Amino acid sequence: VIEPHRVVRQGSGSYPVYIGPGLLEHAGEIVGGMSGGKRPFVIVPRSLRARYGERVAASFRSGIEVIDFDDGETSKTLGTVDAIVTRLLESGAKRDSVAVVVGGGVAGDTAGFAASVFLRGIDLVHVPTTLLAQVDSSIGGKLAVNHPLGKNLIGSFYPPRAVISDIGTLATLPRREIVSGLMEALKGGVIGDVTLFAAFENEVDPDALSATLMTAIIRKAVDVKANIVSADERESDLRRLLNYGHTLAHGVEAALGYEQLTHGEAVGWGMIGANAIAVRRGLLAAAVAGAIERAILRLSPARIPQIDRSRTIEAIRHDKKFTSGRMVMVLPRAIGQCIVVDDVRADEIECGLDAMLAASR
Ligand SMILES: NC(=O)c1ccc[n+]([C@@H]2O[C@H](COP(=O)([O-])OP(=O)(O)OC[C@H]3O[C@@H](n4cnc5c(N)ncnc54)[C@H](O)[C@@H]3O)[C@@H](O)[C@H]2O)c1
Ligand SMILES: [Zn+2]
Repeated sequence: VIEPHRVVRQGSGSYPVYIGPGLLEHAGEIVGGMSGGKRPFVIVPRSLRARYGERVAASFRSGIEVIDFDDGETSKTLGTVDAIVTRLLESGAKRDSVAVVVGGGVAGDTAGFAASVFLRGIDLVHVPTTLLAQVDSSIGGKLAVNHPLGKNLIGSFYPPRAVISDIGTLATLPRREIVSGLMEALKGGVIGDVTLFAAFENEVDPDALSATLMTAIIRKAVDVKANIVSADERESDLRRLLNYGHTLAHGVEAALGYEQLTHGEAVGWGMIGANAIAVRRGLLAAAVAGAIERAILRLSPARIPQIDRSRTIEAIRHDKKFTSGRMVMVLPRAIGQCIVVDDVRADEIECGLDAMLAASR
């Protein structure tokens, strides 16, 4: 019997999270054990079908249907959701079906959202295959697809029945995608786990990560997020802590048209910018900001390319968290301790932006 790392308890549902090597081969056993004879479907992006989708399907005792779809942020749309629903209907899926979604955060969001609306919702199991999906998007029960007018504007709160994170899948992930996920994990350390942050200070080398260290990091990062979402299902102060580093990151990502930097890389630079604001306010000791910056730079994120500074400021001003000249931001006070402030001024944001640009030169 395979034991989960933990159970995440949210108001809308509880689910076990399995983390470790070699779990793909046990997906059938885990899903079969909890779903009591429901009919499973593996839903996977075409590009991951042969490598991971078929392996998950093979772990089920009897032959199961594999449904594939177009991957990529530009396919994270209602159109793709519609295509998945069509394939489910054509394959005879019913209300007692289980969607076993294999892939990164884009796949989890798109196929997960399809599962959440198909026949008003069928059981969903996430099998995340990117580090970002394992530490972040598969936990918390949020699902969303993009609209032509903006990212993640159409979605639902829909907790999965289980999350199965096989760290073996990370072996084929490009280095920058590993760094992107590590950056979200490092963020978790600063928000809520001193020992997780310490691992980034001393042990983590993105080019030489042992399975043991990778498993430990994912478990700790999942715990930080799981503890926050358990206490606070919808977006209010506690859940907002997860946005540490994200305000300035979103500005840079928007100014770059969501190209050139991975999300995690942008968050890394965004944390450096937020720290500069915290230091300026006297909330954070400069030495601690320095330690966080060193841990971020150890992961060698891609540098911020030449960006239009005024376009970045403009993008930040368009953020829905920016109202009447003030911005909501997460600022650290110490490792493992962050606060949400709602009165960050435009001049402080410019300082934060300059600090992150300077750090990336
Ligand atoms: N729902 C949430 O709470 C939440 C939270 C954070 C992020 N997200 C969403 O997650 C998405 C980003 O997810 P991501 O970073 O996982 O990107 P992604 O899903 O686009 O995956 C990155 C690339 O890696 C490929 N890939 C996936 N697994 C692989 C593997 N094991 N080996 C080789 N290649 C692999 C994918 O096909 C893709 O090309 C965004 O759309 C974001 O909005 C959602
Ligand atoms: Zn993020």
